[in-house]
Amino acid sequence: MRIHASFLLPALLCLLQSARVIAWGVAGHQIVATIAQIHLLPSVREQLCDILPYNARCHLAPYAAWADSIKRQPQWRWTSSLHYVNGIGDYPAEHCVFGEKGWSSEKNLLTALVNVTYETQQYGGSRQDIAIRFLTHYLGDLHMPMHLSGRDRGGNDDHVKFEGRMTNLHTVWDTLLITQSIRTLSNYTRPTSSKRIESALRGSIYDAYVRWIVVEGIRGWWANDWLAWPSCPEGGDLDPALLVPRNMDEDSVDFPIHPDVSQGQAILGAGPQPPIDPPSLPICPQSWATALHPLNCKYVWPPHYDTRGKPPELDTPAYLGPIRDQHVVERLLAMAGVRLAAVLNSLLGDEGEKSALGHGLDGLVWE
Ligand SMILES: *[C@@H]1O[C@H](CO)[C@@H](O)[C@H](O)[C@H]1NC(C)=O
Ligand SMILES: *[C@@H]1O[C@H](CO)[C@@H](O)[C@H](O)[C@H]1NC(C)=O
Repeated sequence: MRIHASFLLPALLCLLQSARVIAWGVAGHQIVATIAQIHLLPSVREQLCDILPYNARCHLAPYAAWADSIKRQPQWRWTSSLHYVNGIGDYPAEHCVFGEKGWSSEKNLLTALVNVTYETQQYGGSRQDIAIRFLTHYLGDLHMPMHLSGRDRGGNDDHVKFEGRMTNLHTVWDTLLITQSIRTLSNYTRPTSSKRIESALRGSIYDAYVRWIVVEGIRGWWANDWLAWPSCPEGGDLDPALLVPRNMDEDSVDFPIHPDVSQGQAILGAGPQPPIDPPSLPICPQSWATALHPLNCKYVWPPHYDTRGKPPELDTPAYLGPIRDQHVVERLLAMAGVRLAAVLNSLLGDEGEKSALGHGLDGLVWE
């Protein structure tokens, strides 16, 4: 019997392990973290070795989904409402409103992001470790459109089919769209010549998908837009000059660094009164979310979407076609990753390195 038990345990662990790898809540967050890792300044990567737990191996991905894994534990239950934000009166696509009438809770994804960004800057030790884990996670959540709408509990109550199986709309976006892409992607299985990309990959099932997103997406489809992703349009005192690459060479990149990042005091005391975006931190969750929320009305619950009848099959050209054609999911993952890198570079980057590399990744070398 002992033999059985000792045989079973590793088998069980193995099962659990693969279940975790396949569960996309997890992988989506890890992909975002991996794309961020690719864009970190060397000094930030080094610091992560000291800040994150040893078994993270200086990488953001291993703890990217940690915030989900703890949110049902009694001492962390207060964080479970921080994974989403619901605008009052929002019901995509009929009523596409985000924040104009306020939020259903003051403790939400937007205020939490400001909080953990402030804490990342302000603290060291385990408090900074926890703050970075939350920051990594919440920035991922901000870029999953259904975390920005309360309709049908963020799609959890919408029964749908995907590839013939019963599921819900939230899971389709959180998990199944990404898994399907990974399964059907047949290229990028070999290492690229870019050390920057390859050194951030960890032998995961999504490596090829990350390569595709970075090589064809960030360096291709969105080559003209991605440098502006981390900017904060309503940040007020953000210097727009910092957003413009110094030369337009394809490999040169620049991130906005908030000028008065060191004065991030008083954020917590100010309370989550609108507008939520703090002028003193390199993050503007409200502006970013306001621009992302319409995706709910265009793609998630499009005007022709109807849940009243039988659960609709969503793996169809009518629903999935535009999402695939426009790389909607890949763009969200890329955007979250680039923004996460920009925030961490600006908060933790070595000053000398930041000025040498043009306040960010001006000297980014791909090869
Ligand atoms: C910010 O974080 C601290 C500690 O992590 C917590 O006590 C506080 O409630 C948080 N506030 C919000 C709005 O998340
Ligand atoms: C890689 O595969 C994707 C998805 O199948 C396709 O869109 C893309 O064009 C391919 N790229 C190359 C270089 O073959």
